[in-house]
Amino acid sequence: MTFYITTPIYYVNDIPHLGHAYTTIVADVLARYHRLLGEETLFLTGTDEHGQKVEQAAKARGLPPKEHCDQMVVHFKELWKELNVSNDIFMRTTEAFHYKAVQNSLQYLFDEGDIYEHTYDGWYSISEEIFYTEKDLVDGKSPMGKEVTRVSERNYFFKMSKYQDALLSYIKKNPNFIQPEHKKSEVLGFLREPLSDLCISRPKERLSWGIELPFDKDFVTYVWFDALLNYPSAIGYVSPKEASAKYKTFWPNAVHLVGKDILITHTVYWTTMLLALGEPLPKTIFAHGWWLTGENKKMSKSEGPVVKPLDLKDEVGVDGLRYFLARDVVLGNDAQFSRDLVIQRLNSELSNNLGNLVSRCLSLIVKYFDSKVPEVSPDDDESKNLLSEITNLKGKVESEIRGLRPQAAIGSIIELLSQANKYIDGRAPWKRAKEDLSHAAETLAVVFKTLLEAAFWLSPVMPEKSKELLERLGHKLEGSKLIKVSEKVVLGEPLFPRFDLG
Ligand code: MSP
Repeated sequence: MTFYITTPIYYVNDIPHLGHAYTTIVADVLARYHRLLGEETLFLTGTDEHGQKVEQAAKARGLPPKEHCDQMVVHFKELWKELNVSNDIFMRTTEAFHYKAVQNSLQYLFDEGDIYEHTYDGWYSISEEIFYTEKDLVDGKSPMGKEVTRVSERNYFFKMSKYQDALLSYIKKNPNFIQPEHKKSEVLGFLREPLSDLCISRPKERLSWGIELPFDKDFVTYVWFDALLNYPSAIGYVSPKEASAKYKTFWPNAVHLVGKDILITHTVYWTTMLLALGEPLPKTIFAHGWWLTGENKKMSKSEGPVVKPLDLKDEVGVDGLRYFLARDVVLGNDAQFSRDLVIQRLNSELSNNLGNLVSRCLSLIVKYFDSKVPEVSPDDDESKNLLSEITNLKGKVESEIRGLRPQAAIGSIIELLSQANKYIDGRAPWKRAKEDLSHAAETLAVVFKTLLEAAFWLSPVMPEKSKELLERLGHKLEGSKLIKVSEKVVLGEPLFPRFDLG
């Protein structure tokens, strides 16, 4: 099996914020889990560089659009590096191979009669880069509450409506195609109304920053039509007649992770485009929720000051932030973001639960066993129970990850650690060591195993902290294998110090 996970490609009109970091970190966590499970994995993120929004941002900075993009891309690349994001591909829509794939696809649809010329009369939201008809508007704004401007001009249209029925039956036949369930209902609701055709061009006299239509040099391609094609073009899709072996093996297993703000563009525009091109649809489109600040507002760069939550990484560390984002919310739901919530989560699960277990176990191994993990074959029922929970962990994590529930996968690790804490509390090896060393040896050997397993399965979420923990446990990770490198454990300073609530 292969696994191809994508984030949306982000607009380069401004620097990245927590919202972008969230999607990218969750995608990274999923990619790392799939690699750990031994699966051939590709992970794409990147930037969406054409369109009016980017052109305007470049103009405001007095730069040619490409130069503006080249500069902005650095902010994204640097942030992903800092956040330990392990993308295999950083896709830019200004790449020459992408131009070709977009133009080939447009020409194909034009030749097939799926693109036609027509005078467009309607509304356009620059911030969303989306066309709306009169009936779509709510109080004179887009359904998302964005400003719209009146547009009336000759344009080219993609016959999206022609594929409505095929899309509907595909969604019904493939229950995991759109997730989570409540988002699927939203899409089905949207498809209850007749689909209009999609305007896929912009006259150059209004917007020149885009991919030229191969059949009319006076136009550039609508930015969404261009951007969505990045997912296959990045892995070797050239045209409906030509694609790489990589595309053929990975594309049917593609998972698009997107924010709920771009659910329709992905589930309706993109899928009908693929149906018209005769290409397979991705395996899953998963829409996650929004992080909300105190005032219950979605954070976004176009609505005021860039939010500071990302700065929290300087206080709690990159792994702390990654842990919170992947763990705190059921993927698909909205959630609150605040410093206190981050601190509470990290203190209770990492400092109190995992951190405590590490220091109790390792300090006793150092004290009573010359830092060497006692070798015993446990025969107590209590120990055997915990050992069988350790063995079960892989299966639990794997099924949660395949079901796109990273929060629950982490939950099952934390649950095991809680059980191990109860086990060590009950057996009190700090007392027993003095009277019955073999009892304490058994306890510590089993807790050590728990820690090893937990560190291994937490590595996709907290790559650095897991590495440190594994080192203290005398191990290291090589690819998806755990290697023993030392006979002795190292206690060290607390791995997960407690943070003070503000
Ligand atoms: N360029 C398009 C996507 C094209 S994909 C072919 C785009 N870019 S964007 O820069 O606006 O990024 C949108 C994405 O950022 C959302 O889909 C979501 O992944 C993420 N988020 C932005 N704000 C967010 C929150 N407040 N909370 C969580 N994620 C949000 O749309």
